[in-house]
Amino acid sequence: MSHGFPTWHRVTEKKPTGISRMAPSLAFGKELVVIFLLVAITAIIFFFVSNQRAFLNFFYLPVLLGAYFFGKRYATLAALFSIILISVVAYFHPASFSFAGHRDLERWLDIGTWGGFLLVTGYLMGMMYEKKEAARRDIHRTYSGILEMLSQMIDSVDRGTYSHSCRVSVLSERIARGMGCDEQQTENIRAAALLHDLGKIGVKREVLTKIGELSSAEREHLKGHTSHAVGLLKPLGGRVSDLLPLILGHHEKYDGNGYHSLMGEDIPLGARIIAVADVYDALTSDRPYRTALHPREAKSEIVSNAGTHFDPRVVKVFESIFPNLDEGSPVPLRGVHG
Ligand SMILES: [Fe+2]
Repeated sequence: MSHGFPTWHRVTEKKPTGISRMAPSLAFGKELVVIFLLVAITAIIFFFVSNQRAFLNFFYLPVLLGAYFFGKRYATLAALFSIILISVVAYFHPASFSFAGHRDLERWLDIGTWGGFLLVTGYLMGMMYEKKEAARRDIHRTYSGILEMLSQMIDSVDRGTYSHSCRVSVLSERIARGMGCDEQQTENIRAAALLHDLGKIGVKREVLTKIGELSSAEREHLKGHTSHAVGLLKPLGGRVSDLLPLILGHHEKYDGNGYHSLMGEDIPLGARIIAVADVYDALTSDRPYRTALHPREAKSEIVSNAGTHFDPRVVKVFESIFPNLDEGSPVPLRGVHG
């Protein structure tokens, strides 16, 4: 289903999983670590160790690190580099690595056997890691697709909620990063924000579209959308379970006057973040019963409710990112939405 809203917010791979996905500086740093380890191990064994041949097994360490961080190509290269290093040392200093007592053929056979195992180990470990990563990416794509599908379903009952949810997820992610949340936490907050109003699927259309004030029974019925979302998502289990407290708590208020009367730090941080993003976006959107506020007015409204409705720490971060809200954002957040 499309309502002219781009699918930019699709869950993207966050964790670098291979050389192609890494930022160049990060990849270069890890390559340097592997090379440094290889040279350091050679030097330590050469200069400080008496039973040098036993310590040749230490070369498995950088090779396995190479397999883990870069896959089979780099693990194989690390193994080859190790073999070349040791061959050069054995050629110019036959006394080292206890090769002196060996005849030439025996020495090279010895190095060949050790190097062969190192090479095969690096290749196999790298291959297994790449396979595991490919499977993990597949699962992640499925997870992303399910979130996307669910978030679009909301529009079938409440048109406009999908684009609202997308903006709330972008803003929530920005605030989460500003608050120093780690990658996993940020990803959960972003995903929970995308699905925060999914439970409106279970709310009567006449309540969702009512222009006048809701009766107390209707308000209670609407309130049920947080727990209804949890009921819908719970069977998915796995990583989705981490999103449930955030969705359930997105209408909590910092002073305890929210849906379930949770208070202060008892409200999950992600829910406190989504609450700010949700209200800001609602205030800057046209509704049947009122026109949108100017973003600056909406911000003032958020700030004036810090400590009562909102977590003051979250509001502080929101204020700090507000001047550059649209910078690098796939959707305009400092605008008025229809
Ligand atoms: Fe909601």
